[in-house]
Amino acid sequence: MSKNSARMPGRHFLHIPGPTPVPDRILRAIDTPLIDHRGPEFAKLARRCLDGLKTIFKTTNPVIIYTATGTGAWEAAFVNTLSPGDKVLIVETGQFGLQWANMARRLGLEPDVIKTDWRTGADPAVIEAKLKEDKAHAIKAVCVLHNETATGCLSPIAEIRKAIDRASHPALFFVDTISSLASTDFRHDEWGVDVTVGGSQKGLMLPPGMSFNAVSDKALAAAKTSKLPKSFFSWDDMLNMNKQGFFPYTPATNMLQGMAVAIDMLHEEGLDNVFARHHRLAEGTRRAVKTWGLETICRDPKYYSPTVTAVLMPEGHDGDAFRALALEHFNISYGASFGPFAGKMFRIGHLGDCNEATMIGALGATEMALRLAGVPIRSGGTQAAMDYFVSAHSAGANAAAE
Ligand SMILES: Cc1ncc(COP(=O)(O)O)c(C=O)c1O
Repeated sequence: MSKNSARMPGRHFLHIPGPTPVPDRILRAIDTPLIDHRGPEFAKLARRCLDGLKTIFKTTNPVIIYTATGTGAWEAAFVNTLSPGDKVLIVETGQFGLQWANMARRLGLEPDVIKTDWRTGADPAVIEAKLKEDKAHAIKAVCVLHNETATGCLSPIAEIRKAIDRASHPALFFVDTISSLASTDFRHDEWGVDVTVGGSQKGLMLPPGMSFNAVSDKALAAAKTSKLPKSFFSWDDMLNMNKQGFFPYTPATNMLQGMAVAIDMLHEEGLDNVFARHHRLAEGTRRAVKTWGLETICRDPKYYSPTVTAVLMPEGHDGDAFRALALEHFNISYGASFGPFAGKMFRIGHLGDCNEATMIGALGATEMALRLAGVPIRSGGTQAAMDYFVSAHSAGANAAAE
């Protein structure tokens, strides 16, 4: 139908698991006249962002801001703390775990990869056993993705910290929160994470292009002896300049204008409310998928992701063809598929600036597209999500009235 028209009416339903839709208030903040990045107004803005980010990562230590995508912050975590030939233990929960391990290899590190079937999160017991075997303490860092965006599986970071402690292993603990930060609870200090990697384009509701390292004292100490080459990503230069509210190079000033507002918005809603909203939207989405009679890639409820649901297509139905059809007819985008699930799944993002109404629009479009594509589903998935949202809100309203 829309094949012949040059314009897609209505707004685009951007349901990839990041970049996520940027709220108008943030777009307006970015759309402001440029300021001098060495002047006093900038220093004030930088301090708002640098201090504000600490409240999002839940740390009292510095958070470093890079003008780079999340991949840059991955690299920064490695090059600032490790030396050539160091062994790193990486859990391959999916495509992003795989890519992080590939990066380690390219940088001259030795990744020891814990493989999964890409349908669960990282298992603390497996990490503990690996670390206990490593009597010589050759492993210098343990790397885990809090949320594996490629599969929709969330890993238990606090439990993994405990597992590392039970093994009495001195390895650094690196956590990728690119698709979990500001969407589900994360506590850099309390959970004993040494480097937390984050990105701008998901829960923070900003465009892509900025990424972060939250660092522990232990990571800062490791930086003093690390021998991997570093220049742009050097923490030292950043931390020295950040103390005065400046950067060692020209920062993305207008992205920082947006970031200051994004942090305000998250606190206006309240972080706990932000997390509860993401859990609600995820649960509604899973109820729709289940009612349709489809399977999620994540096969164990204890690892369900609050930010993305990956849906397995039934045999004989191609996930990429389905995504193309849904885009063409209903103006909605889903996340692509990777690795063993290439062509076999599509991923529904439910993170960032979205609410129940947005999700009902997205799930309604998905249900229509599945029917149009001839995928054998039971109807009623969108209704199941609506029923769940109504019951969750009435439970909330009743609790508030008591
Ligand atoms: C969990 C995770 N890690 C790393 C990355 C890579 O980040 P970027 O594409 O911003 O470089 C992504 C991208 O989506 C991701 O979801």
